[in-house]
Amino acid sequence: MAKNILVTYYTQTGQLEEIVKNLTKPFWENQEEFKVTYYQIKPKKDFPFPWPSDVFYNTFPESYLQIPVELEMPSEEILNKDYDLIIFGYQVWFLTPSIPIISFLKSDFAPKLLSGKPLITVSGTRNMWMLSQEKLKVYFKELNIKLVGNIALVDRHDNYTSVITILNWLQTGNKVSPKPFPKAGVSDEEINSASKFGEIILPFAKSENYEGMQAVLVKNGAVEIRPFLIKVEKVGNRLFTVFSKVIHKNPNKRKFWVGVYKFYLMLAIWVISPIVLILFNLTTPIFWWKRKNQIKYYQGI
Ligand SMILES: Cc1cc2nc3c(=O)[nH]c(=O)nc-3n(C[C@H](O)[C@H](O)[C@H](O)COP(=O)(O)O)c2cc1C
Repeated sequence: MAKNILVTYYTQTGQLEEIVKNLTKPFWENQEEFKVTYYQIKPKKDFPFPWPSDVFYNTFPESYLQIPVELEMPSEEILNKDYDLIIFGYQVWFLTPSIPIISFLKSDFAPKLLSGKPLITVSGTRNMWMLSQEKLKVYFKELNIKLVGNIALVDRHDNYTSVITILNWLQTGNKVSPKPFPKAGVSDEEINSASKFGEIILPFAKSENYEGMQAVLVKNGAVEIRPFLIKVEKVGNRLFTVFSKVIHKNPNKRKFWVGVYKFYLMLAIWVISPIVLILFNLTTPIFWWKRKNQIKYYQGI
């Protein structure tokens, strides 16, 4: 009997949709053995794209605090199937899985679709997804989901170039940046070649035994880890925790505090993080093994 694959995702720009559709191409080309169902997560009141600047920063507290919004129900057809594998597409908003993704995991219907199933995460982010993956693992555990693989596609340009191009993309809707900057987001080449990961997954899905799959995915470029970014994410999470709580507790002064957060974010990206990068590079010999272990951990599942 054909195996059922459920592909869940949210997307604003279409980038993640392109990634998951290309990735699952080998499955829908093999219709005798696999039936692929796509479930696009839809908030009842969706977030804007392109983002007006004030709405963008104003989304930070609820995003970071993982406060869900209401979603449209998936169709009966999606709900009434029993799936053999879940391909779980997500993006990161403010170092946290995006609000639509969290809303899905907290929804009443998530257990029906996901509980007890093997699941592969597929993300399309700027470059900071590592601690979001850890946040997802908490939900996966609660839902008794078995994480069997992870593919993390990112913008491979340096951290500063990708900040400039992504902010331009998100606020103008234009993925192509003004010269001399490169195109924002995950490269076209990586998006187009995502089907190679589907080819890798296919035989494991056939045998329903995923042992050893993550190592093959990593060997083929599914997860690149830059230890400096883990450091930035850890520091960022500490400060975001403080900011999100202050903003949430002071609704009357929300506009002021969101403004302070925006100022802090720019300072952190353009002033603090270059200093941290220099210190980080200088201490490489001391923390050599710690960082090697970090790479191994975050490349794993
Ligand atoms: C509000 C917001 C915050 C974001 N924060 C991050 C972030 O913290 N780390 C990161 O790597 N990418 C971040 N991104 C980029 C997204 O993860 C994603 O790559 C981009 O929005 C395209 O997503 P799409 O799948 O909706 O088309 C952010 C995007 C938005 C809209």
